[in-house]
Amino acid sequence: MASEKQMKDPVRVGVAIRAQLENEIPKDLPLEKDFREETGYTVTDHVQELHKSLAKDPRTLQLINALVSRLHGFARETLLTHAEWTKVVEFLTRCGKESTDYKNEFVLLSDIMGFSALVDELNHPKPAGCTDSCEAGPFYYPNAPEIPSGASLAKAGTTGEPMFFYGTIKDTKGRGIKGAKVDVWQADGDGIYDVQYPGTEVNDRGKILAEDDGTFCYCGILPTAYPIPSDGPSGELLRALGRHPHRAAHIHFLLAAPGFDDLTTALYPAHSPFLGTDPVFATRKSLICQVTEERNPKRWEEMGFKQGEVKTGRVWVWKYDFILPSTEEVQQFHRRRRAAKL
Ligand SMILES: [Fe+2]
Repeated sequence: MASEKQMKDPVRVGVAIRAQLENEIPKDLPLEKDFREETGYTVTDHVQELHKSLAKDPRTLQLINALVSRLHGFARETLLTHAEWTKVVEFLTRCGKESTDYKNEFVLLSDIMGFSALVDELNHPKPAGCTDSCEAGPFYYPNAPEIPSGASLAKAGTTGEPMFFYGTIKDTKGRGIKGAKVDVWQADGDGIYDVQYPGTEVNDRGKILAEDDGTFCYCGILPTAYPIPSDGPSGELLRALGRHPHRAAHIHFLLAAPGFDDLTTALYPAHSPFLGTDPVFATRKSLICQVTEERNPKRWEEMGFKQGEVKTGRVWVWKYDFILPSTEEVQQFHRRRRAAKL
C-alpha cells in the first residue's frame, strides 16, 4: 500500500494523482490475492471484496455488489463474446445519446424488460382483495383542473366515442370512503394525450372529489390503444424480440384518501387489443374491465350528456369499484411479508 509520501513522489506517481492529493484520494490497498476464473477466487470476488473494504454507504455496497454478482453471472452463463459486449456498450451509448427531455431511452428499456413493473410491484404490494397498482407512465402531471363529479373530462370536439365512467372508492370492508380524491388522465380516441398535441390545452384529465359515499363519475371519451416511442434503441430491441410497441387502451387513476394508502393504477377495456402483449408489462388481469354500450338516448341524458352531443348512436359505459387498503392494513401487510421472508 502506498504511503502518502510515495504518492507525492514524481518518480512513482504522475501529475494527475499528485493533483488529486490536493483534494481527496480514496484509500489504496495492496493486491494480496490473484484472481482467475475456475479458481476459488474470481474477479467477481475481487471486485466485491474491494467494495466491502472501501465503500462507506452500506446500501450502495449491497446494491452494487448484488449487481456485480448478476452481471458477472450473466457473462459466465451466456459465455458473452467480446463482440457482444461491444454491441451492448454501443446500445447503451445510443440510449444515452437518443434520450431527450420527452423520451428517456433508459426508462423505456427498463419498461420493456419488465423491470419497471417489477420495481413497482415490489414497492407497492397490495393486500389480497385490494385493487392492483400499475405505473403512472410519462403523461401524468399534478396540476390537472378540478372538476365536479359528473362533469365532462373531455372538451367539446375531442376525437373519439363518448364514454361514461362511474365507480366507488371502497375500503376493504366494502364501505365507500369519504373524502377520496380521484386524479384521472387518459388518451383520446386517437390514442393521443393532451400533452402530445401542440399547444397547452388541458383535455381528458382532471381531479374529481368523490361524493361522501365514495362514488364518482365523469363523462369523457373511450380511450384507444397507442404505441410507446419505438424510434430509438429500445424500439429496435422490441422488434428484435418479435414484440410490438403498442399498449392496450387504458385510463390512468391516482386515488388518495385520508388514512388510506394512495393508489396509482390503470384500467383496461376487455375489447382492447394488446392486453397480453403489453410492451411495458403494466396490464394486469385484475384491471381488465368489461365495458358495455348504452344505446338509449334517455339514459345518455341521465348520465350527463347534452341533447345532440352523442353522435355515434351509443355511449360506452365503464364501471369499476376501487378497493383501497388503510395505511394500517398496508403496514400490517408489510410486517407479515417481512416476517415470512425471515
Ligand atoms: Fe397511458
